[in-house]
Amino acid sequence: MGDVFCGCGTVAHEARRAGLAFWGCDINPVATLIAKAKSARCAGASMRRRSAEIEAEMDGASRAHRLSPIAVQRLQRWFSDSAFNDLACLLNTINDVVPHSSPYRSVFHCAFSAILKDCSQWQQRSVKPALDRTKVAKDVRRAFAAQVEMMAAAFDEAGKATGPAPDIRRANVLTVDPPSELLDLIVTSPPYVTSYEYADLHQLSSLWLGFADDHRILRQGSIGTFEYEIDLRRAHTALNRTGKQVVFTLYEQDPAAARAVAQYFLDMQKMAARCREFLTAEGVAIFVIGNTRYRDVPIDNAAHLAESLLEAGFKRVRATRRRISNKSATPFRDAAGRYTRLRTRNPIYAEEFVLIAHL
Ligand SMILES: C[S@@+](CC[C@H](N)C(=O)[O-])C[C@H]1O[C@@H](n2cnc3c(N)ncnc32)[C@H](O)[C@@H]1O
Repeated sequence: MGDVFCGCGTVAHEARRAGLAFWGCDINPVATLIAKAKSARCAGASMRRRSAEIEAEMDGASRAHRLSPIAVQRLQRWFSDSAFNDLACLLNTINDVVPHSSPYRSVFHCAFSAILKDCSQWQQRSVKPALDRTKVAKDVRRAFAAQVEMMAAAFDEAGKATGPAPDIRRANVLTVDPPSELLDLIVTSPPYVTSYEYADLHQLSSLWLGFADDHRILRQGSIGTFEYEIDLRRAHTALNRTGKQVVFTLYEQDPAAARAVAQYFLDMQKMAARCREFLTAEGVAIFVIGNTRYRDVPIDNAAHLAESLLEAGFKRVRATRRRISNKSATPFRDAAGRYTRLRTRNPIYAEEFVLIAHL
């Protein structure tokens, strides 16, 4: 099975637990780092042993870093001086103690990545990057030790999984090489437009781990980004019926948003065709997708995707509705289209759809 937006590897992990081969891709390097670490074959005991070494070495470690001046400037906004220095020491120690060739190196980078928000002034539980100067950030060493323990326990648990090692690529679904063996099943949750920039959500990790000096570069190619280059006059002819309807209605209210939505819809149409290309003749693709509103205009992502799938050659698409009950910070939009936590009549993901497409 596969996931064309594999993110942090939830589907990959479940495939492994179910004993299934897995192929997946995601454009974001932090997402694939996490996805690969989650499904690495590591032993909890070895992780704990290396963690003890890291802890012992950290006292004498250098706080010198190899970050670019731009990255430092961006990171200093989020971290106190002491947290910044502790993180630099920790990362140097991980890199000294765990060799490049070891599978544990990316696992420890993943543990490092996982504590960054808690050790920063990033507003707790915020879905968007927001600074909270009053937040009491966690201590770097303690947070790291707790994270390692959690991951070690998860590896012990996953040790019982039987599936083959997953094949996870850092790549754009629109250009990636097809899997070497076609897939019977794709299960995926696509990105949304006019939502947050996925690349920005991982910015602390992207900067610390050197994936980019300026995390905004990672928005390029990301489906749903507001960084688009589209000439709507020329491109709109390629939009399907639902796409045209939504984009033209939105254009009256907000031309910039309409262009971003048009780019998103065009990318999703191409994505549907790629899913068909990746599947066996009787394959099935399952998408979890929500609708939203922007400036009071309904953005019917689910209807657009269903139409795109049929146009791509899927014979049957069934949709079921699912209520989302466990989102702690379900965002709403105010009348101007901005996010708010206040309950407005513009909830954006109170429910979502599961589309099941058969070839
Ligand atoms: C809703 S999230 C998927 C979450 C995932 N199910 C998980 O378990 O973490 C959407 C993902 O699509 C990825 N994405 C956006 N544009 C992409 C593209 N062009 N190619 C591949 N992945 C992309 C984002 O980086 C993000 O991780």
